[in-house]
Amino acid sequence: MARKQIDSEPSRYASLILLLMGVASCTLVYAFLSVVLRPWAESPVSELDASALDGSSRAEVGSEGCCRGIENLELWGPAVKWGSDFKFNSSKECCMACKGMCSGNDGPCLCDTWVFCGNREACGPKFGECWLKKQKDILAPDRQESGHKVSWTSGIIFGKGEGIVGLETEYGTLHIKLLPDCAPHSVAYILELLALRHCAGCQFYRAESRGMYWDSQGNHIKDAPLGPPFALIQGTLEALGTTFKKIPTEDCPTIRRGSVAWVGSGPEFFISLANHQEWKKVYTVFGSVLPEDMEIAEKIAQLPTKLDVWNKINVSVLENPIPLRLRRMKKSEGDLNVATNVESE
Ligand SMILES: *[C@@H]1O[C@H](CO)[C@@H](O)[C@H](O)[C@H]1NC(C)=O
Ligand SMILES: *[C@@H]1O[C@H](CO)[C@@H](O)[C@H](O)[C@H]1NC(C)=O
Repeated sequence: MARKQIDSEPSRYASLILLLMGVASCTLVYAFLSVVLRPWAESPVSELDASALDGSSRAEVGSEGCCRGIENLELWGPAVKWGSDFKFNSSKECCMACKGMCSGNDGPCLCDTWVFCGNREACGPKFGECWLKKQKDILAPDRQESGHKVSWTSGIIFGKGEGIVGLETEYGTLHIKLLPDCAPHSVAYILELLALRHCAGCQFYRAESRGMYWDSQGNHIKDAPLGPPFALIQGTLEALGTTFKKIPTEDCPTIRRGSVAWVGSGPEFFISLANHQEWKKVYTVFGSVLPEDMEIAEKIAQLPTKLDVWNKINVSVLENPIPLRLRRMKKSEGDLNVATNVESE
């Protein structure tokens, strides 16, 4: 399967490849099944949600509405508000207090990390404590070892213009605004990948245009079919040499044009070129592509593909998968395209 191609990787992965080949014979059947079935095991076609198509557009919950954190995790960093005398009854209130320090509208927040102790028994006298912190580098938050003995819950908040990572391809870099308050586990994974400084094996392998079915704003054209093509580009974000841990289901809003979401529990993911009200809300959305970069996604969607059938669904697989790398992006005055971090390779 296209996404498993590794021939373009540097030779330092050669020994790993040999090892993988050794294991391959026993896992071939499993790999085949997982590649064919996983990507659209929850296929958009079988998930048509007829009630969503009756024209009554439901109220969308914006990302502002989320205030999720990661349990059993204590993020460190300099405190801007001491929890010993700042207590709440729920992690959500603690998170909202942190968000409340982002009132500047543009630019960094005074608080970008909240840490809450919400288990009355485990926390003891610390129960209800809400620590608000400010990281030196919010894309690499200072984390202590996590585990079940940690009774804290932590979350991070990105201000406007913060928390943007680049998905670099040969066709341009897609700037992605991450949504840590809606999908904290997903974003923590992306930040781990970012810290790795390579994403060997990460690639787009499927590309489907909007066809004649969705307009350039991503709106469905009246009475048009719902695909294929399904108006998306799909790939994988699993770096060779790392162990991927399934990502739990997080916030699953309606897929919009620009939404970046996991297929199932990852590491397969897709970027939507259209508003897919017809799909059930089952995809964890962890980011959105900045509107000005959607033309890059459109370009990729036009590349040569070949037909394949996954789980009875016609899909268009790229003739040449497109390697990806994650890059840190720094927003400087009016210019989003300044990369500040140099890869190790
Ligand atoms: C938290 O709950 C307690 C008891 O349920 C209540 O007395 C208190 O006012 C609540 N505090 C806040 C900040 O909501
Ligand atoms: C899938 O592709 C085949 C071959 O091109 C075509 O005959 C069939 O109608 C397609 N099915 C759908 C659902 O588009």
